[in-house]
Amino acid sequence: MKILGIETTCDESGLAILEVDSVKERFRILANEVASQYRVHQPFGGVVPILAAREHEKNLPILWRKIKPLAEKLDYIAFAHGPGLAPALLRGKNFTLKLAKRLKVKVITVNHLAGHFYSFLLKNKLNLWQKKKEIPFPCLGLIISGGHTILYLFSDYYHKKKLGETLDDAVGEAFDKVARMLGLPYPGGPKIEKLAKKGKPLFILPKPVLDRNYTFSFAGLKTATLEVVQELQAYQKLDQTAVQNLATSFQKTVFEILTQKLAKTMEKFQTKAIIVGGGVSANRTFKKWLENYFGKEKVYFPEKNLATDNGLNIALAGYFKITAGGKPTPLTKLDIHPRLPW
Ligand code: KG4
Ligand code: ZN
Repeated sequence: MKILGIETTCDESGLAILEVDSVKERFRILANEVASQYRVHQPFGGVVPILAAREHEKNLPILWRKIKPLAEKLDYIAFAHGPGLAPALLRGKNFTLKLAKRLKVKVITVNHLAGHFYSFLLKNKLNLWQKKKEIPFPCLGLIISGGHTILYLFSDYYHKKKLGETLDDAVGEAFDKVARMLGLPYPGGPKIEKLAKKGKPLFILPKPVLDRNYTFSFAGLKTATLEVVQELQAYQKLDQTAVQNLATSFQKTVFEILTQKLAKTMEKFQTKAIIVGGGVSANRTFKKWLENYFGKEKVYFPEKNLATDNGLNIALAGYFKITAGGKPTPLTKLDIHPRLPW
């Protein structure tokens, strides 16, 4: 089975082709192309939806020309129809429709968050057959991205229960906002991680709703960090060392909150593994942190370049939807769902 994945939910345009041998349960990446737009959004300190849409419109045909020679005999197009930014999703939908009509291929719609969940299954190696990983279920699934922070309980690859989510900011959003306070460009997550390697965790920051199971909150932590920034500025003490120390303190506090919630939930449901996905799972410091805490064999992260948005995750999630009995969407009914739950 050959699946083309299309990702346009936010500020990455992604097209990928995944081949699946469903009898032997193995995968092979034929193509994976991503056009990142962060340079376009950087001057604004965050993603501007209408600019994201314009970039998708420009980038998708360029990516398509690159992968087209490998797109013969496609079985499905998997399209991430939400959640995401409406103008961005619309460009993805139009492109999907055009391609599906031209190639006469069925479209399977995919939830962007499912793409993040399954992303740990693939090594980003072209043309190499990869066996489906065996995971000890039940396990926890933690999605930490720019727009979401959600904890799930999975009984197998197909069945899950949502345990809880953030009441306010998502983890990636908090990273981006704190980075902005520290004068770092968008996207701030990777820059905070880099700076945090050089600092010391000297600032004590709050851990909101630590006592509430499966519920997260990062707005209070973000505000507390802002107060420290303002105080340091007032005394003209926000120098390079202070910025590094704040980055370390903020990041460590986030890790401690997430770890404590995961540990409690692991114990309660007697889960055997933790699967982490979403842009923040690109953070290798967090990967090492969780591996140290829970043991390497219990923690699953995607490869760094598959953690952030891409079409391959969408193709893979499309495969899981198809094997779960999911039906293609008639082209006349294809739509976008900016607030799609998962
Ligand atoms: O999943 P993603 O690519 O887009 C959404 O679906 O939101 O996630 C993007 C988020 C941004 O907030 C970005 O700062 C964060 O992931 N991120 C990181 C790192 N790399 C990306 N956060 C912390 N550390 C990183 N290394
Ligand atoms: Zn994402």
